[in-house]
Amino acid sequence: MNIAIVYKSVTGNTKIIADKIKEKLGDNVKYFGEPKEDIEAELYFVGSWTDKGMCCKEIENFMKSLENKQIIYFGTAGFGESKEYYEMLFNRIKEIIPESNKIISYFFCQGKMPIAVKERYEKMIKENPSDKKIKLILENFDKALEHPNEEDFKELSNWIDNLNILN
Ligand SMILES: Cc1cc2nc3c(=O)[nH]c(=O)nc-3n(C[C@H](O)[C@H](O)[C@H](O)COP(=O)(O)O)c2cc1C
Repeated sequence: MNIAIVYKSVTGNTKIIADKIKEKLGDNVKYFGEPKEDIEAELYFVGSWTDKGMCCKEIENFMKSLENKQIIYFGTAGFGESKEYYEMLFNRIKEIIPESNKIISYFFCQGKMPIAVKERYEKMIKENPSDKKIKLILENFDKALEHPNEEDFKELSNWIDNLNILN
């Protein structure tokens, strides 16, 4: 099987996941890296960080350029612990993939966020100390700092096994 792993990662979380996928798929991976023109493969693992409820622009443009391919999506997101949230994100991402492609599966896990995000919310909670939503966001920020972690890697590994792509 001729596989490409095409991803975009700004702070390294999505790259960690991409590396793990590569490790698992070995010599079947013929391209590994950022989007570019003329990547030829039968199966594309396409990965992105989550940017305002969507995949990032570079990955959006790349997926829009694919035709008659098999696509498996992987993403990292600052918010975790909710399969529903990941499903909602993926449903949105699915919309931009041209219909001629076959979407096989998707995987998400949580990824730590830059400290500037926390500082922004800390400023907001100082102005609105009783805002429960901001409090939850701050709690989530601290949880995200541990991700991706060993448990995510285990889940990722099981997910790849269940895809049965190397059989
Ligand atoms: C500008 C910006 C927007 C973001 N938007 C979202 C979002 O809408 N939902 C979410 O869950 N995480 C969001 N995040 C968090 C990142 O997607 C998350 O930290 C991701 O793991 C970063 O991946 P990377 O390290 O591969 O760049 C955002 C982060 C930044 C910097």
